[in-house]
Amino acid sequence: MREFKNKVAVITGAGNGFGLEFAKECAERQMKVVIADIEEDDLKNTEKIVKEMGAETLAIVTDVSIYDEVKKLADRTIEKFGSVDLLFNNAGVVVAGPVWELPIREWDWIMGSNVYGIIHGLKAFIPIMLKQDTPCHIVNSASVAGLLTTQNMVAYHTTKHASVALTESTNYSLQAINSKIKMSVFCPGFVQTDLDNCDRHRPERFKIDPNEPYYESAAYKAGIERGHYVINNGMPIDSIRQSVFMAIEEEQFYILTHPQYNLVIGKRVKDMLEGKNPDVSMFFN
Ligand SMILES: NC(=O)c1ccc[n+]([C@@H]2O[C@H](COP(=O)([O-])OP(=O)(O)OC[C@H]3O[C@@H](n4cnc5c(N)ncnc54)[C@H](O)[C@@H]3O)[C@@H](O)[C@H]2O)c1
Repeated sequence: MREFKNKVAVITGAGNGFGLEFAKECAERQMKVVIADIEEDDLKNTEKIVKEMGAETLAIVTDVSIYDEVKKLADRTIEKFGSVDLLFNNAGVVVAGPVWELPIREWDWIMGSNVYGIIHGLKAFIPIMLKQDTPCHIVNSASVAGLLTTQNMVAYHTTKHASVALTESTNYSLQAINSKIKMSVFCPGFVQTDLDNCDRHRPERFKIDPNEPYYESAAYKAGIERGHYVINNGMPIDSIRQSVFMAIEEEQFYILTHPQYNLVIGKRVKDMLEGKNPDVSMFFN
């Protein structure tokens, strides 16, 4: 996709972090911008920013873990703008801790936001794009956590490996039918966003249960602390939107932003192919 002016972009998780950056880039490129987020106030803030940049905008409070809400987002996009050209399935959250300690509710929340969020976006928007038969692009936000594994992030890795697989497999299917829809999977390392404060985005049904001892545990508290540390010391966000839009223009499928992880990704695959066991020494620190 190389033409952006007057085209329609839809961005989930647009209230903060990457979603807000993508919205700003879309506005700068004179696109019509449909922004969605579970947080109404954060969404209003993004709406104000992109409107001030001169973009025609539609803001819809959406919980991506609920298919009917994503379907409504797609329907309202078509009602208002008549088409959709660029989709960012970007909303996401993070959960830390070992599988034997994590309450099932944590899994339901993160799978709902990070995996079902993408499934819902693909299911609601791809039929519209196929019918249009115009050059379109879909960017799914995964993570470098979808290309490697570390300790204590089992739920996040599981969702991000799923996001990579969802994107790769869908892309094969679309290319097999000669569709004009191109795809990318965005796999950054740590970047300074609001991700470490994602507990505040829990829908009512996934709110922290005060009777659940896990939330008083050392593992839970250590996970929160580490989240603040790695996000606050991550890459500044400024350059991200240019990298992602360059990838869209170049039809680049994998968008990696942190070359320091390439060795680890490569070693994982090399060990696998050579019949070696995972190198646990890399992550015991
Ligand atoms: N920041 C990083 O270091 C990093 C690294 C790799 C991947 N990612 C991924 O990038 C994506 C965006 O994260 P970010 O870092 O910009 O975080 P962020 O917290 O700054 O922004 C995420 C946005 O998603 C929204 N959201 C959360 N759950 C939602 C739901 N169910 N429905 C709709 N909106 C919802 C939040 O309200 C928030 O505005 C996520 O998928 C995240 O996993 C982030």
